[in-house]
Amino acid sequence: MRPPIDNSTVLIVGAADGLGPELARLLARRVRTLVLVSSQVARLEPLRAELRAANPTLGVLLRTCNFCDAADVDALLGYLEQRIVRVDVLINIADVGAPGLFAQEQWERLRQTLRSNIVVPALIAHRLVPGMVARGRGGILNVGSGASRLLLPGASVFAGTQRFVDGFTESLRLELEGTGVTVTQVSPGPLDWEPPLPDECTPLFHLSARRGAREALAGFERGAALVYPGAGHRWVMRVVPRLPRWLQRGVGRLALRGVRSRLLLAPPTRTTGPGPPVLLASRPEPA
Ligand SMILES: NC(=O)c1ccc[n+]([C@@H]2O[C@H](COP(=O)([O-])OP(=O)(O)OC[C@H]3O[C@@H](n4cnc5c(N)ncnc54)[C@H](OP(=O)(O)O)[C@@H]3O)[C@@H](O)[C@H]2O)c1
Repeated sequence: MRPPIDNSTVLIVGAADGLGPELARLLARRVRTLVLVSSQVARLEPLRAELRAANPTLGVLLRTCNFCDAADVDALLGYLEQRIVRVDVLINIADVGAPGLFAQEQWERLRQTLRSNIVVPALIAHRLVPGMVARGRGGILNVGSGASRLLLPGASVFAGTQRFVDGFTESLRLELEGTGVTVTQVSPGPLDWEPPLPDECTPLFHLSARRGAREALAGFERGAALVYPGAGHRWVMRVVPRLPRWLQRGVGRLALRGVRSRLLLAPPTRTTGPGPPVLLASRPEPA
């Protein structure tokens, strides 16, 4: 079954970086309205200007929502509840997590990862799915990570949240079969988007965000359950989960050595409040 994209309203949560803007650019020619959500809405203004310049009839609504802020999440849910816009397609990309050894992490950071990657996406979907089912049309594209199928020491809570995305998305897909609402999960590997690399230059297991977005959308449109964008990543995701568990653990141990040395090299930063020093870095180790 195909998601209703043409002339529809598409909500993209996590639209500021990487896959988000690329999906918005691909959809802009076809949809009636894009609702773009970011934790820093000012970052979306240039994207809105670009999309409107290329597509003068397109409606682009911007909403701010920091998943780590309960008031922001309530405001977004309230906005969706009031049905100011009727969302036909939900694309959930937002993802919170950074590498760190579990024992050294402050609970608050782990709690935010759990809340942002599990509770909030489920809440948003929960607000929207009943309306989609009632109308007999809708689509959900959940962006997870190949990390969900790997053992990922140094990002253990993040890896756990990605397993939730797997289980939630595919189970919901089955629940919604026959309702007119289609659900797809896309689980990328490493994405390159800063600076964007041309497709032909990206290393074997890396993918430009543009190509990742193209493959994600193509899979969503043909009603695929699970999309692994990129031939190299697809191969890894076929092979690694089939390895014997003892071998997967061995690979995990090797990866942990790399994580430890990188974290030791990173400048330690003490966050406010009690607890041991936390090593901050930009994003989790890609799958
Ligand atoms: N990049 C990779 O190598 C890689 C590998 C595997 C899977 N993936 C998955 O692919 C997706 C896209 O990844 P990406 O690298 O393109 O982007 P990303 O840096 O992971 O961020 C995706 C979006 O999440 C939003 N976000 C982050 N923190 C947020 C918060 N506290 N509240 C609300 N939104 C928040 C960001 O918007 P703001 O900046 O405005 O907050 C951003 O637009 C993610 O789901 C990721 O898990 C990426």
